[in-house]
Amino acid sequence: MTPDERASADRATAPALEPRLLAAAELISAELHADIGSDHAALPIWLLRQGRAERAVIVEKTPGPLEVARQAVARSKLRDRAELRLGDGLEPLLAPELQSVSLTGMGARTILSILERGRAAGQRPAALVVQPNDGAGLLRQWAIEHGYWLTAERLVSGFWRYPVLRLERHPGPDPAYLGVPQAAALRYGPHLLRGAHPLLIQELQAQRLRLEPLERHARPQVLEDLGLVRSALDWLGRRPG
Ligand SMILES: C[S@@+](CC[C@H](N)C(=O)[O-])C[C@H]1O[C@@H](n2cnc3c(N)ncnc32)[C@H](O)[C@@H]1O
Repeated sequence: MTPDERASADRATAPALEPRLLAAAELISAELHADIGSDHAALPIWLLRQGRAERAVIVEKTPGPLEVARQAVARSKLRDRAELRLGDGLEPLLAPELQSVSLTGMGARTILSILERGRAAGQRPAALVVQPNDGAGLLRQWAIEHGYWLTAERLVSGFWRYPVLRLERHPGPDPAYLGVPQAAALRYGPHLLRGAHPLLIQELQAQRLRLEPLERHARPQVLEDLGLVRSALDWLGRRPG
């Protein structure tokens, strides 16, 4: 078997990525990619196999998951292209390794705290793909405040509905928010709103049904949430095309 035939056979027998990780992987293409909090390492292994990354750095803060990742990399016969490091967040990465970084399957606050600690240490990845399990609005807000544009966005069904965001460091205001209601777009995603994503519409309609009966109690959080849901649905109802 030639090396190309072997690579193609490996790709054919590769285990399928779960949809949220596949959506993240499809937003990544880099010479060197770093995956933080990798655990099973399914994402970086897929990137290497598909040729979407030439080399990968796999970071885990816990020895158990790092060992799981090490075994997965060994089984995939990718040891020469993947480096595994025990460490916290972006800390184990050197400056040239901050071109393309992913953080998936964690809470938005965990992702945020990793990015903030990195920023405080002068580590600012050029491109980030993040898949929080909740609260993507926090990450969209962080991106606006810290000089990242939201260049692509996906919403994927699974155990929950998972948002996947690609952020790229860029000067100036993010054009993704032009022409969409800002507060609703921060909460629900400017690209998802503009594209009238069917899962987003389902979510907005379910939220409206849940929140409207609570409106008369006038709790500030309910009123704010309902205001954003209505703003998004109104905009969707009026949008051109
Ligand atoms: C729920 S798993 C997600 C695994 C994989 N990324 C995915 O999406 O399926 C979260 C992993 O992140 C790791 N983790 C959490 N905080 C971390 C940090 N500050 N630095 C590195 N790894 C971290 C945990 O040890 C755990 O293995």
